[in-house]
Amino acid sequence: MYKFKIPPTEDLINQNPYYRRFKIVIGSPLWKFYLGWAYKKCVEDFIKLNFIPDFNKKDFTCLLCGVGNEVTADEFIKFVITRNQQAKIKIIDLANEQTNAVSKLVEGKYSSFDIGIKQINALDLSSFIPKNSITWIETDGFLEFFSKKALNKLLDVWGIILKKDGFITLREPASIGKVGRLIDFFRIWIAKKWLGVTIYNHTKLDLDKTFREHGFSFTSAPTFIPTFTRYSLIKTGAE
Ligand SMILES: C[S@@+](CC[C@H](N)C(=O)[O-])C[C@H]1O[C@@H](n2cnc3c(N)ncnc32)[C@H](O)[C@@H]1O
Repeated sequence: MYKFKIPPTEDLINQNPYYRRFKIVIGSPLWKFYLGWAYKKCVEDFIKLNFIPDFNKKDFTCLLCGVGNEVTADEFIKFVITRNQQAKIKIIDLANEQTNAVSKLVEGKYSSFDIGIKQINALDLSSFIPKNSITWIETDGFLEFFSKKALNKLLDVWGIILKKDGFITLREPASIGKVGRLIDFFRIWIAKKWLGVTIYNHTKLDLDKTFREHGFSFTSAPTFIPTFTRYSLIKTGAE
């Protein structure tokens, strides 16, 4: 079990402008459209790995890791329950405004489904999620909250909680070349000044290497957001 502190994101836990301000982006109809597109494309991409994700599996359990806000939760829940009404859905975030908003959504709209929401640091996930129990982990713009060291810990934790035939989908800034580095620079600066959060730069090469080192096979492709790359991963070598 990891008890790994990440001081730069501690300021996310309470009363951070992130939730209120970033809602303009991730609460917009365009973002909902993007997410619907991204989930579908990432799932389709598994064919390139000769892998077919089975949403109808008994005990299908999924984790939305770092929910961001209730609009993302709503899109994710809809995507899952249209494929499997019995799915167990877990939604987590480090920050209380995010988890409170999602709890309200679920109480009002999805109370008959098996959905658990928890405010927790993703690095501590194995303290409440059993080993080899998650079928699908999904997230978007999440790895950038982790330094290189913390990202290694996170991938260890994901490897532990994911089932042997489990899968991961994510989209992440993964820069290539000088233009990518310039976009990274502005992204990190805007996140600090406007949203009050510290985020980190991971190049495409860094991310690919780190996923491989943690025993994941993956396929990647661009999205229509500059530098944002979609990844679909399966656990091949991880424990
Ligand atoms: C960019 S948002 C995610 C957006 C959302 N996943 C989507 O698909 O639209 C990132 C979220 O990760 C959360 N977060 C950052 N570090 C975290 C950590 N260590 N553990 C859990 N959540 C974290 C932040 O509070 C924020 O709500």
